Amino acid sequence: MRKKRIAILTGGGDCPGLNAVIRAVAKKAIGEGYEVIGIEDGYEGLVKNKVRKLTNPDVSGILTIGGTILGTSNIANPYRYAVQSKKCKLIFKDLHKTAVRNFKRLKAEALVSIGGDGTLSSAYRLNEDGIPIVGVPKTIDNDILGTEITFGFDTAVTIATEGIDRIHTTAQSHHRVMIVEVMGRNAGWIALHSGVAGGGDIILIPEIPFDIKLIVKKIKERNGKGKRFSIVVVAEGAKPKGGDVVVQRIVKQSTEAVRLGGIGFVIGDQIEKLTCIETRTVVMGHLQRGGSPTPFDRVLATQLGTKAMDFIKEGAFGHMVGVRNNEFVKVSLREVARGKRLVPQNHPLVESARSVGTCFGD
Ligand code: F6P
Repeated sequence: MRKKRIAILTGGGDCPGLNAVIRAVAKKAIGEGYEVIGIEDGYEGLVKNKVRKLTNPDVSGILTIGGTILGTSNIANPYRYAVQSKKCKLIFKDLHKTAVRNFKRLKAEALVSIGGDGTLSSAYRLNEDGIPIVGVPKTIDNDILGTEITFGFDTAVTIATEGIDRIHTTAQSHHRVMIVEVMGRNAGWIALHSGVAGGGDIILIPEIPFDIKLIVKKIKERNGKGKRFSIVVVAEGAKPKGGDVVVQRIVKQSTEAVRLGGIGFVIGDQIEKLTCIETRTVVMGHLQRGGSPTPFDRVLATQLGTKAMDFIKEGAFGHMVGVRNNEFVKVSLREVARGKRLVPQNHPLVESARSVGTCFGD
């Protein structure tokens, strides 16, 4: 008798803990008599039929390793698939039927799709169009609807915090204003958590538009008290009141085309002009996404992976494994596809930070 079979892919930007999820899904599945097919480079592999069998040796020794052994793509949306013409022009094609057909050829009973909101939104549509899918939430940004935590976030916060700690000592020695720009797209979770953990004097997040005059006031107040340096932690998606985000580039092929970045330099220039204090900006960038996951993320990723297998056995397709009140719950992919989970302006951590004197520029 042919073995039961499942498939697995990782989509969107890479994120520490992806390999830990692949390992958990595959080990549990193989242990329970399934065959596991790895799809390479996210939905691109489904469209182009890039697949390979995953055995125990393939997933052994990968728990602690960053990135994804399957490869990923954050520009491969089967419903708006970018193909380059001979003249280097991009043409978008709806190739979801090819993806569904290729999946059916695998004779797998389910697909585990590990990704952020873009990947999971496509997962929702593909599930409706005939691929039985279970989703696993992944992103350093921690902005997926329906779950309180995503793996990768803890690692990103840890790296960003280490960056802020290192910036602290050099800021102090040189009596400078130092700005640390962190990732997160339109959500301020990484800035909020690393900013609080690193003792940022000013934390700027997209959800609380800032007024540069209030930032300058805070820095001058600190100077007046003899604190001759200040640390500003700014989310890449932060914006001034009545103003807009700073766009670094447009990636046309991507569902979410806008790449943010550069706000740190913009406010750095303004602060230096308005305070006459030497100011430097550091962008943490993709350092936050690379390398080994923290123990917390390894544990979370392992649990999410094994839970995804439980969902498959239950036939809970069209669902993502979410975390609510420390429990693993089924979240409909329809709910996940509705948008992003942003920081509420009155979030308890914002309130705590304000209570210890942190300025949010508002
Ligand atoms: O969503 C994860 C993330 O790292 C964001 O924080 C960041 O804005 C974006 O991806 C960067 O994307 P890319 O890898 O395309 O530069």
